[in-house]
Amino acid sequence: MNALTFPILKQLSDGQFHSGEALAKRFDVTRVTIWNAIQHAQSLGVEIFSVRGRGYKLPNAVELIDKDTVMRTIGPQSEWFHLSVLDEVDSTNTYLLNAAANGAPHVSCAVAHIQTGGRGRRGRSWVSELGASLTFSLLWRFDCGATALSGLSLAIGVGLVRALKALGVDNVQLKWPNDVLVDQKKLAGILIDLQGGMDGPSAAIIGVGINFNLSSNALKRIDQPAIDIKKAGADDRVSQSMVLGTALKHLVDVLRDFEEHGFVSMREEWLGQHAYQKKTVRMLMPDGRDVEGVVDGVADDGVLLVSTALGVQRFSAGEISLRAASHEM
Ligand code: BTN
Repeated sequence: MNALTFPILKQLSDGQFHSGEALAKRFDVTRVTIWNAIQHAQSLGVEIFSVRGRGYKLPNAVELIDKDTVMRTIGPQSEWFHLSVLDEVDSTNTYLLNAAANGAPHVSCAVAHIQTGGRGRRGRSWVSELGASLTFSLLWRFDCGATALSGLSLAIGVGLVRALKALGVDNVQLKWPNDVLVDQKKLAGILIDLQGGMDGPSAAIIGVGINFNLSSNALKRIDQPAIDIKKAGADDRVSQSMVLGTALKHLVDVLRDFEEHGFVSMREEWLGQHAYQKKTVRMLMPDGRDVEGVVDGVADDGVLLVSTALGVQRFSAGEISLRAASHEM
């Protein structure tokens, strides 16, 4: 951690050159101290141009998260939220898991400008860069236990689809259990960590990554086809703060609905967005086996129903992965 790194990045966020001398004067430190902070930023994956005689510059201007804009975008329900904007964190889910264990209130939310160890489903990592992707987590406390939350991740998918549509992304689809796709490319991912007993009460840490404006560098580092919200059709004026506010607004709606009625009340809406509904798929098991069949739909608890040679089989999320069958698109 270098205390100067983020203040300097804030200065550079306008996308213009700032000389080492001007930065040193601004922060009342030496140019070597500025250089060290820049090195630290680069070690976090931030791309910074350094040009002799001109100074330091980010490749593009970056709009940082503005708490007021987030709250305004959420609207009247913003009073529910305890929002923390973090400059740099390993994982917003890990941060909020710790905070939850230490009594953080219901509807706490943490959003990070830089996430250095983002976690994805099935042990994967989540690639993000300053200004390139929105990374946040939301803590929701339930009276019920973890067993009653099996459809939660699908419900969150419904909330994100609603939010993305409101932002102008029209052809958004879901891939069971909860990948958010546009043109078969990944736009957003959801990772839910659960805390508490099987019988309750429990806490869900709902982590969401939404690709915002991916650099070619980030695209190379992501191990699957990916798309960002800008290329997926969102209005050009949409900022990360507006995306966050819109997502939170819709997530609270689905979470309240889920709390009262369960996933069943959103099941039809979810099925309407499923990219693989009635398609032939291959289900990959953690032990390396795979099962082929046609997607029938999802049950009230979010379990995927697939018609196979052995009849209809039920697949629960966890470590199982859905793939298009090789002869299907
Ligand atoms: C997936 O594999 O599709 C899920 C990706 C979830 C990434 C988000 S980014 C914010 C939050 N913090 C994390 O460490 N992961 C989630």
